[in-house]
Amino acid sequence: MKLVFATNNLNKIKEVQSLIPSKIELLSLKDIGCFEDVPETHNTIEGNAKQKAEYIKEHYNYDCFADDTGLEVKALNGEPGVYSARYAGEQRNAEDNTNKLLEQLQNKTDRTAQFKTVIALHLNGSLKTFTGICEGIITTEKHGKKGFGYDPVFKPNDHNNTFAEMDLSIKNNIGHRGKAVKQLVQFLTEKN
Ligand code: IMP
Repeated sequence: MKLVFATNNLNKIKEVQSLIPSKIELLSLKDIGCFEDVPETHNTIEGNAKQKAEYIKEHYNYDCFADDTGLEVKALNGEPGVYSARYAGEQRNAEDNTNKLLEQLQNKTDRTAQFKTVIALHLNGSLKTFTGICEGIITTEKHGKKGFGYDPVFKPNDHNNTFAEMDLSIKNNIGHRGKAVKQLVQFLTEKN
């Protein structure tokens, strides 16, 4: 079975590929000749995930899934949330975003946060969503070089390291995307 994962983020493809059964062949946007920016204009994580999956189905006619992730920080009223990618501006730079987050939290004592991933699956003409949440705190400094995005400043509950200090297998096991992907895999396995 061929399924498009509507992303060109190689980190995400690596994370998800390691969780998907090998009988499901994952194709990236590049693999299907999609080089344009897939629109994500909704103001919710779920809305954007659905929009991306629907766009690929409509324009490329592939069964596919898309994910959208946001980091929701309690002391910032849930920000950056759906705007996580462009928190520090349209350049969508992870370093800038992380620095801005640390700045915004400088005088805050409550540093609790959660990552939320919604995966929207477009399969056989219907759309279904899967949600994964990982709770933790935002550290005061960056730690670690692995992973991507906000990983160096996110320490999941019950762990002493940030995501950027963890092996991918551990991040996948406890992380937001891993949790959503496991539900996706279970659904696909039951279907086939
Ligand atoms: P998107 O799902 O690619 O739109 O991600 C939104 C923003 O959250 C981007 O800035 C990503 O770098 C960041 N992000 C998404 N997933 C993760 C993750 O697993 N760890 C750290 N940052 C992430």
